[in-house]
Amino acid sequence: MTHNNEDLLNRIVSLCKRRGFVFPSSEIYGGFSAVYDYGSYGVELANNIKSLWWKVMVRENENIVGLDASIFMHPKAWEASGHTSGFSDPLSECKECHTRVRADHILEEAGVFADEKMNEEEINRLFEENKEKLRCPKCGSSDFSKVKKFNLLVQSNLGNFTGDWNKEPVYLRGETCQGIYVNFKNVLDSTRVKVPFGIAQIGKAFRNEITARQFVFRKREFEQMEMQYFIHPDGATQSFEEWRDRRWQFYIDMGIKKENLKWHEHENLVFYAKAAWDIEYKFPFGFKELEGVHYRTDHDLSQHSKFSGKDLSYRDPKTNEKYIPHVVETSAGVDRTFLAVITDAYTEEKLEDGNERTVMKFPKELAPIKIAIFPLLRNKPELVKKAREIYDSLKARYMCEFDDNGNIGKRYRRQDEIGTPYCVTVDFDTLEDGTVTVRNRDSMKQERKKIEELKEYLEKELSPF
Ligand code: GAP
Repeated sequence: MTHNNEDLLNRIVSLCKRRGFVFPSSEIYGGFSAVYDYGSYGVELANNIKSLWWKVMVRENENIVGLDASIFMHPKAWEASGHTSGFSDPLSECKECHTRVRADHILEEAGVFADEKMNEEEINRLFEENKEKLRCPKCGSSDFSKVKKFNLLVQSNLGNFTGDWNKEPVYLRGETCQGIYVNFKNVLDSTRVKVPFGIAQIGKAFRNEITARQFVFRKREFEQMEMQYFIHPDGATQSFEEWRDRRWQFYIDMGIKKENLKWHEHENLVFYAKAAWDIEYKFPFGFKELEGVHYRTDHDLSQHSKFSGKDLSYRDPKTNEKYIPHVVETSAGVDRTFLAVITDAYTEEKLEDGNERTVMKFPKELAPIKIAIFPLLRNKPELVKKAREIYDSLKARYMCEFDDNGNIGKRYRRQDEIGTPYCVTVDFDTLEDGTVTVRNRDSMKQERKKIEELKEYLEKELSPF
């Protein structure tokens, strides 16, 4: 079944709320713009996405190590990164209706790509050159004020006892990678890594996003999965290309449909970047950035070296050459991957008997619940007891759910909507011959399996790809 894009997004948002994937934050108070909470199934799905990323990036790479840096950082780190000066959201105002707009978004709508990290002068030049094509999303006017940068970092009052917040503001981090750069030397000195090596981190980031829209695509509090790969400048371009391929393959292996992915190359690069490519996903509101793969040269380590006064260069133990490593960054968003996985999995099917079903066809490794176990009837203690035994024997290995509510058809429908790959039912035959019904989410086929063989069967079916 096909729907127009807005309708599809509405259906996804509605299912996410109804089935406990995503709730609007502080909903009983009317919600809080661009902030969302993950419900019971949402947190399982998000955790599975993060575990998969960690497995592929850290566990499977000898020369990539993990890190969990704090959300608070020394204020100087944000000066070094450029976030507190020219590195903030470019804003403009429609002169007709006074709507504030993100200049890079207005340019993007007009088919002109602008990097949000470009300076005011560069964005104003693009605005001027493309004046005719720009449209206010509210009133359609092309008359905009000059673009001004707006600091996207979220300020806190940490340790501020005087109330003068502008004296030395402490920010919530706007991206996780800065925590990686400031720990470059610590990691080098405390582990056995040698250049080339990577540092990977999953963590929260905060931004004062001016446009709050598109569900969890653009949040003010979100989560990033970033890896910074430190490499000799001579090998950086090749490494960038390798990482580009590997990050594309990550989504393919995860089970995302190839036709819903595409590359976007940034044409207007920030001054320090040599290359920047985005992997875009076809969200219900069109192809948009899912992950960025960037070649950032030695800019970040050089800046932190300059601002901290600490030498962040590397001495090659074999050649004795001393240099500042270059960085290839892979930067993915947990929330955007979550929305891509949900969008990709969302399926409405017309069944042979004329009924319809909504089923989330999640890749098995990502499914929030792997197995649901039902007693056929809740008022038959022998069935409940047997079903509980099976549930107890599987729950330590897999995320399982025990359900004895309503009839079997209703239970299947509910499990389909949360994307559970297997449902196991205990019925009267179970008590006679020790077999159960195993129902497959996608084919809806039901097979009888012996209880003793169940574990082995499920292990084979659910083993990680
Ligand atoms: N360190 C580089 C960096 O932060 P970015 O393109 O600004 O680059 C990287 O962000 C990724 O973080 C994006 O591709 C996206 O997946 C995620 N992201 C950025 N802003 C976001 C937001 N407001 N809400 C949800 N995810 C966001």
